[in-house]
Amino acid sequence: MSEEHILHAYGITKTYQSGSEILLILKDVALKLYPGDFVSLMGASGSGKSTFLNILGTMDSPDQGHVIIHGTDTVVLKESQLADFRRKHIGFVFQFHYLLPEFTVGENVAMPLLIAGYSRSKAMESALELMDYLGIVERKDHFPSEISGGEKQRVAICRALIAKPDIIFADEPTGNLDRETGSHVLDLFKKINRDFNQSFFLVTHDESIAAIATRQYLLKDATLFKVDLESGHKE
Ligand SMILES: Nc1ncnc2c1ncn2[C@@H]1O[C@H](COP(=O)(O)OP(=O)(O)O)[C@@H](O)[C@H]1O
Ligand SMILES: [Mg+2]
Repeated sequence: MSEEHILHAYGITKTYQSGSEILLILKDVALKLYPGDFVSLMGASGSGKSTFLNILGTMDSPDQGHVIIHGTDTVVLKESQLADFRRKHIGFVFQFHYLLPEFTVGENVAMPLLIAGYSRSKAMESALELMDYLGIVERKDHFPSEISGGEKQRVAICRALIAKPDIIFADEPTGNLDRETGSHVLDLFKKINRDFNQSFFLVTHDESIAAIATRQYLLKDATLFKVDLESGHKE
């Protein structure tokens, strides 16, 4: 890929204290993301996948290192600046959807735009357009408790996409879904990735899911390995 990267993380080190023990979770890790990238990260449970995703997504800070997104070193931003930065550049999809139960599906999707100060009519218009694209617009007036798991995940994806972020971080987004629904969600990611050139960073512990990415990584022993897609070997 010759294009300019949109994210460059380097020298990322992260430790956690567990009782008297220091756990080394990430050791001098580096990664670049490019526009339209589809990157997957695998690793055993507890290997630090979520920690790494949260650091790349500016939700957590490393002990050392830098996360440059669009030329801004996010590691030095204050929390108040970060919230704004995330709204503009980053979308998240988690295993559990965290929809707001007292708002309709349409309102949940529109929420990031409402928070960013858009008028209700503008925000709802964008929400409905996106929900139409992801095939859940008929559910707009339902509450989260009234829709299925797969539909909730599609709503969460709409909400992650509504502000047109450059990068979508997805942490085990299909972990809570049956195989068929999960594969439908992944198809949607690929479609969005193709249609809008948004970059995806997808964490999974499932090899068949990781395989849909164009670049695959494995986190092991606090080190990031690139998986050679030709041979399946780690570098
Ligand atoms: N806030 C925390 N305090 C202490 N240890 C943590 C914290 N968050 C995660 N850990 C530990 O760091 C390791 C990596 O966690 P995590 O990134 O959630 O792994 P994964 O997503 O690969 O399952 C685990 O051993 C976990 O127990
Ligand atoms: Mg995790």
